[in-house]
Amino acid sequence: MKKVVLGADHGGYELKDRIAEFLKNKGYEIRDMGVNSSDSVDYPDFAEKTAREFLSGDYDFGVVCCGTGIGISISANKVKGIRCALPQNVFAARMSREHNNANMIAFGGRIEYPEPVEDMVEAFISAKFQGGRHERRVNKIMAIEQ
Ligand code: RB5
Repeated sequence: MKKVVLGADHGGYELKDRIAEFLKNKGYEIRDMGVNSSDSVDYPDFAEKTAREFLSGDYDFGVVCCGTGIGISISANKVKGIRCALPQNVFAARMSREHNNANMIAFGGRIEYPEPVEDMVEAFISAKFQGGRHERRVNKIMAIEQ
């Protein structure tokens, strides 16, 4: 079964729930790392929890949301092995997979996107990593972690 792990802070949990619903309807098994209320929390905690769960489980990808998507994506990218994209639109969401082989995707619950977030998620999940010269570049990204 396709599996996804999601996490958010108080600025992103409603969007996280919306994305979870969308993915559940597409047949994904959902692992929700929280939060599930508007009580203020610190986004690095939920980024790290979600990223580590992604790495330890058999997940297809991970989703993180905060107010802007910025803090939670920066934090997720600090975890070794994570390539978390923060796409602006459907095109970027697709490219983050085709060119960057992103394994997590971030969104902002307080951002007005030019296209529905569901379309961006759809573009992400239906895209395939193209390999070739992109593989060399992704390998260089990962080498920076060493
Ligand atoms: C929380 O107020 C807010 O700073 C957070 O959700 C996020 O936007 C940070 O990047």
